[in-house]
Amino acid sequence: MRSSAIAVSGLRKAYGDKVVLDGIGFDVAAGSIFSLLGPNGAGKTTTVNVLTTLMKADAGTVRVAGHDVVTATKQVRAAIGVTGQFAAVDDLLSGRENLQLMADLKRVRSGDPVVTRLLERFDLVESADKPAATYSGGMRRKLDLAMTLVGNPQIIFLDEPTTGLDPRSRRAMWGIVRELVAEGTTIFLTTQYLEEADQLADQVAVLNQGRLVAQGTPEELKRQIPGTHVRFRFADLYELDAAARVLAGSARDDEELTLRVPSNGESRSLLALLSRLEEHTINAQEFSVHTPDLDDVFLALTDPTSTDPTSTEHTSMEVIAQ
Ligand SMILES: Nc1ncnc2c1ncn2[C@@H]1O[C@H](COP(=O)(O)OP(=O)(O)OP(=O)(O)O)[C@@H](O)[C@H]1O
Ligand SMILES: [Mg+2]
Repeated sequence: MRSSAIAVSGLRKAYGDKVVLDGIGFDVAAGSIFSLLGPNGAGKTTTVNVLTTLMKADAGTVRVAGHDVVTATKQVRAAIGVTGQFAAVDDLLSGRENLQLMADLKRVRSGDPVVTRLLERFDLVESADKPAATYSGGMRRKLDLAMTLVGNPQIIFLDEPTTGLDPRSRRAMWGIVRELVAEGTTIFLTTQYLEEADQLADQVAVLNQGRLVAQGTPEELKRQIPGTHVRFRFADLYELDAAARVLAGSARDDEELTLRVPSNGESRSLLALLSRLEEHTINAQEFSVHTPDLDDVFLALTDPTSTDPTSTEHTSMEVIAQ
């Protein structure tokens, strides 16, 4: 059993009479990636702020790198790096100067090639001497993460590190996060992209209305919700009606003209469904096999209006979290 890099219990935080964290607790093993998910306003940034000593909790205990965040603030700060939701980059300085400033703040030995190494690692060499104000959103994100890595913190907090990045830059960022973990760093990550949590996280926790409503590996969470199904789309209500009559156990969506039928996704079970439609000369315009993903878990656990967790197929949580 690895030691805990982060140990949280009974954490409570309210703003006035608005309770944001209503007694949450979790453990993050050293050298692992932990991802906190939750709709907008759930309290993810608040949690990051408490864990990184930027904000005081109302109750509970938080230990980071073995130190209490309240009584050993200095030791905690020495062990961590934070990339906030709102970047810490100084626009007037160049990328190189931003990194050098961070190196000076962290008292990295002069002559240490840390700045050059980070510029190379994040592919920022070409723009290193231009003011950060001229950087694109993706470049700023990279610079922000590079600044976090100065001084080799053991534990890194990333609050939505890839929001606004294009798919290639997002994957590049994932690569860097994986490298850091391979080197033994612990990562605490919040994200809007459930695929990101699925790709990266060893453990996921879902925050909703002040509580952690689920915790586990991505696989464990996916197993908690209804399973694989096949989704058919029809040309009109007439075909949909006919199909709903012949396919047992199906759930229809009249607006989308779709039908969902439970299936284990094996070819034989698909063939049986297709033959059944063919026997009744019903044609589906389109069909797809759907395996539960973290989006389904998220929707099932956090959307109070959703009674059928398999009835939505959004690819990003932004859709439901407005
Ligand atoms: N300083 C503050 N004063 C009062 N209320 C606040 C403060 N900071 C946050 N809140 C409220 O606390 C709740 C949680 O905010 P928080 O920023 O932690 O959410 P989040 O999960 O990070 O959301 P997002 O996904 O949008 O980043 C929100 O309702 C927010 O309005
Ligand atoms: Mg936030």
